[in-house]
Amino acid sequence: MSHPLFKAHIERATRFQLRKPTPNKQNWDTFYKLSSNENLMGPSPRALKAAQEAILGIHEYDFYDDFEFQDVLSDYYKGELKSGQFITANSGVEVLEIICRGLVSVGSECIISSPTFSPYKNIIELEGGKVIDIPLVEPDYSWDIDGILNAVTDKTAMVFITNPNNPTGTYANKAEIDRLLDNLPEQVIVVYDEVYYHFVDADDFPYALDYVKAGRPVIGLHTFSKIYGLAGLRVGYGFTTPEIGEYLNKIFRPFRIDTVSTVAAYEALKDVEHVKASQEMVWKGKKWFYQKFEAAGIKYWPTQGNFVMFESPIPSLELTAKMLDEGVMVRPGDNFGAPGKIRLTIGNEAANERFWTVFSGLI
Ligand SMILES: Cc1ncc(COP(=O)(O)O)c(C=O)c1O
Repeated sequence: MSHPLFKAHIERATRFQLRKPTPNKQNWDTFYKLSSNENLMGPSPRALKAAQEAILGIHEYDFYDDFEFQDVLSDYYKGELKSGQFITANSGVEVLEIICRGLVSVGSECIISSPTFSPYKNIIELEGGKVIDIPLVEPDYSWDIDGILNAVTDKTAMVFITNPNNPTGTYANKAEIDRLLDNLPEQVIVVYDEVYYHFVDADDFPYALDYVKAGRPVIGLHTFSKIYGLAGLRVGYGFTTPEIGEYLNKIFRPFRIDTVSTVAAYEALKDVEHVKASQEMVWKGKKWFYQKFEAAGIKYWPTQGNFVMFESPIPSLELTAKMLDEGVMVRPGDNFGAPGKIRLTIGNEAANERFWTVFSGLI
């Protein structure tokens, strides 16, 4: 990326490292960003081609509402979900904003389980909501389902379940989520953030789609930023019951998703081969890292995402700063309430090997 803005971006992105790299010490030719769980395979070539063509027409307004896109999603789900059941927006984060704008009011409570995706807190609080944290249970980072149920009051609006969870990579299984849903009062809505679902390989993983189809008060969250490799375009969607969908779709903004992003997302959905190849890359890379960590005696948490969290063998902020000097950016868990841990995106072979070479030289 040669545009000057990208250089500025990499410099700014280091703010997440919590410690700056050593000035004037950048010993690398290729920079590997393994800190944001992107797809190192890049976007689908089909999506890229469509975006390149669509960019020639960006002087025009195109998609007034997202109904064309919602129809595409409905087809993708073989008609099991209808158009109005989707909440489509500029990114998963914007879907979360729409959900909170519609469903959080001053004084309402939302339950989250930390360490988890950090923007939830801010988005809930901006709408006047109160965050109730029922942390994941160490050392496995499993869900405290009883703790969540006990924390429910008549003010509880929503429970946020991030499955698989970011940054831990751990997951709640079907029996756990069934138990949660069976015991929650009817008015409590579950925001089921499943943005990493393509990378799941566990047989007992509970998919949001099944709960929505069964009419449960669940809002699934998906994004085009992960497996589809379109993080820079910002497209995401929620899916839910017709009633919740109709209500949330009242939060409307004309031309919300831009032309380029809409057509790229459309093509990305159709490119099954790219999805498969990306899954294979991650599943292969994850096994490779497991073996490496085990051989080096480093604790890691088995993951269902395209990233793996491990215990840093040296102070985590020192590790991330030193790795940055060598052109490898990984994320300290300190950002997420998991101090001393590192979250590493599973990349392609070149990236994984570069990570390991630098990492093993530092520990
Ligand atoms: C758990 C989780 N939810 C939601 C998102 C939002 O993704 P985006 O806003 O890029 O669609 C992310 C991004 O990293 C995430 O990790």
